[in-house]
Amino acid sequence: MSTGAEIRNKYINFFKSKGHKEIPASPLVLEGDPTTLFTSAGMQPLIPYLKGEEHPKGRRLCDVQPSLRLQDIEEVGDNRHTTFFEMLGNWSLGDYFKEEQLSWCLEFFTKELGIDKNKLWVSVFEGLRDEKGKEIVPKDETSYKIWLKLGIPKERIFFYGPKKNWWSRSGTPDEMPEGEIGGPDSEVFYDFGTPIHPGCHPNCDCGRFLEIGNSVFIEYEKKNGKLEELPLKNVDFGGGLERIEMALDNQPDIFKTSLLKDLVLKIEELSSTKYEENISTDKSFRIISDHLRAAVNIMAEGVYPSNKLHGYVARRLIRKSVFHLFLLGVNETGSLSQIASVLKNEDKINNNWQFIKENLEIEEMKFKKIMEVGVKKLDRLVSSGKNIDGKTAFDLYQNDGFPLELTLEFLRRKGMRFTKKSEEIFKREFERHRELSRKTTARVFKGGLADNSKEVVKLHTATHLIHASLRKIFGDTVSQKGSNITAERLRFDFSFPRKLTDEEIGKVEKMVNEVIDKGLPVVFETKSLDEAISEGALHFFAERYGKEVKVYTVGDPKGDYFSKEVCGGPHVENTKEIGHVKIFKQEKLGLGVVRIYATNKVLD
Ligand code: SER
Repeated sequence: MSTGAEIRNKYINFFKSKGHKEIPASPLVLEGDPTTLFTSAGMQPLIPYLKGEEHPKGRRLCDVQPSLRLQDIEEVGDNRHTTFFEMLGNWSLGDYFKEEQLSWCLEFFTKELGIDKNKLWVSVFEGLRDEKGKEIVPKDETSYKIWLKLGIPKERIFFYGPKKNWWSRSGTPDEMPEGEIGGPDSEVFYDFGTPIHPGCHPNCDCGRFLEIGNSVFIEYEKKNGKLEELPLKNVDFGGGLERIEMALDNQPDIFKTSLLKDLVLKIEELSSTKYEENISTDKSFRIISDHLRAAVNIMAEGVYPSNKLHGYVARRLIRKSVFHLFLLGVNETGSLSQIASVLKNEDKINNNWQFIKENLEIEEMKFKKIMEVGVKKLDRLVSSGKNIDGKTAFDLYQNDGFPLELTLEFLRRKGMRFTKKSEEIFKREFERHRELSRKTTARVFKGGLADNSKEVVKLHTATHLIHASLRKIFGDTVSQKGSNITAERLRFDFSFPRKLTDEEIGKVEKMVNEVIDKGLPVVFETKSLDEAISEGALHFFAERYGKEVKVYTVGDPKGDYFSKEVCGGPHVENTKEIGHVKIFKQEKLGLGVVRIYATNKVLD
C-alpha cells in the first residue's frame, strides 16, 4: 500500500531533480479574483506567467494544489469521482516542451512510482480544422512519435478531438472566451483490465480506464474570436494524487485510498453499516466522505456556511452530507464533526478546527430543523388525506430547503408513491428556477473561469482606488467586506455604520478621479505575506492567501503611493486606462455594512 503523502514527496523531489522549483499551493478560496470561486486547477494561479509574465522562481515550477471542481458534483457516488482532490502539477513557462514532459511523466509513473508500463495507455490530439477543412491546429504527431519512442505501442495510443484532448478552463477552442488560454493535451490512462467489452477505449466510461495525468501544451490564447499562438510554448501538467494512488495500488476505488479511507472507516463506526455491502449505502458513504472533505477544506480558509458564493457551496456540501448520514441512520448532532476530525492530520484543518467544528455543528442543527419542519408538514398533509404531488415537493424544496430526496424517502417509508407526473412537475419547476438563478450567478459558477476581460480589469483597479479613498476619508475602520465585478459595473461592500451622504459620495468620486487623471502606474511585487503586511499592504482573510502573495501598488511602491493591497490581479498598468468613475447606487446591508455600485461607463 502506498500513501498519498509518499507520492506527494516523490513527485516534488523528482521534479526538483529535473531543475524545478517548488511553489506553495494557492488557497482554494480565491481572493482578489472577483469572478472565480475556487481554485480548480494548478495552472489557475499561474495564468499571468503562462501568458508571458516573468515568474520570480524561474521557468520550471512544481506544486501540489488542493482543487475543487463542482462540475462533477452529481457524479459523486461512484468509485472514482470527487469534487475535492489534490493535483500534482509541473510547469514549463516557455522552457522545456513535449519531449522532456512526456518522458519525465512516464519516468515518474513507471520508474519513480513503479507503475507497470504495460498498463499505461495514452491519448493525443487529432488536430482541429475549420468548417472549410482548413487546418487551425495540427494533429499532434510529435507527441505520438515521442510516446512510440518511449515504448508505448501504437495499439495503446489513441487520437481524440477537441472534446477530449484539448484543455482550457472553459473547454474546447469554441467554448473559450476572449483572453482564455489553452492547448492540445496528452493524457495517460491506467488500465484496470476489466470490464472487457467490444469498442472499449481509454475514454470509455465503463471504469476499465482511469485518467491519471494530463500534459497540456498551453500554446494558444483566444483573441478576437480566433486562436492565436502565445509568445511561449508552455507545459501544464496535472495529475490527481488520489487517482495516482489508485493506479499504484491497482485498486479502482478512490474511497479506499489513504486520503479518504479514514472517513469511510469513521462512517462505518458511527452507522454500524459496512462499506461495500450494498450499492445504495455505498453511495451515501462516498458522498459524505467527499463532500465533508471538500466543505472542511473550504472552511479551513475562513468560510462559513451561508447563502452566498463560497459559503453557499459549503452549505450545500454539508447539507447533502447530513442527508446521507440520515439515510445511513446516523442522527446524532456532532456526527459530522466526529467524521471530519479524521482530517485533522492536515495542519490547515487542525489549526482551524474550532471554527470548523462549531460551524459544522451549527449547520447540522439548522438542516435538521429543516428536515423536521418538512417531515411535520408532510405528515400533516398525509393525515389530512392530501396527495404529495410534484408541486408540494417543489414548494417544500424551494421555500423550506427540504430536498426532493427527503420527500421521496418519506413517501417510501410510508409505502406511498411519487407519480411520474409529479416527477415531471418537480423537474419542470426546478428547471425554471434554475434557469433564473443561472442567469444571475452564471459568471461566478462557470467552473472556475476568471473573467479577465479589459473592462473587468479596469473596474478591478477602480475597486482598489475606491477602497483606498474610503479609508483616507473615513479612517482605517473602513474595510472591504466583499467585491463583485462585471464588465459593466463594480460592486463593493465595506464596513460603515450608515449610508454615505451625497456630499460624501462626491468626495470619494473626486479623490478616485483625481488619481485616475494623474496617470499613476500600477505595479506588483511578489513577496511573503508577512513582508506584505509589514509594509502596510491591505490584506483581508489572511487564511486565504498562499505563503507568497502579490502586492499591487498604485503609485510608487517605495515612496508615495495611493493604494497598496494584497491581490491576485490582474490590473491596468496605468490609472489613466480606467476612465471616469461614478458611484451610481448604494444600499445598506445591515450589520454595519454598506454596498456601493460604481461604473466607468456613461450612465443613461
Ligand atoms: N490544467 C490541466 C488540468 O487541470 C493540467 O494541469 O487537468
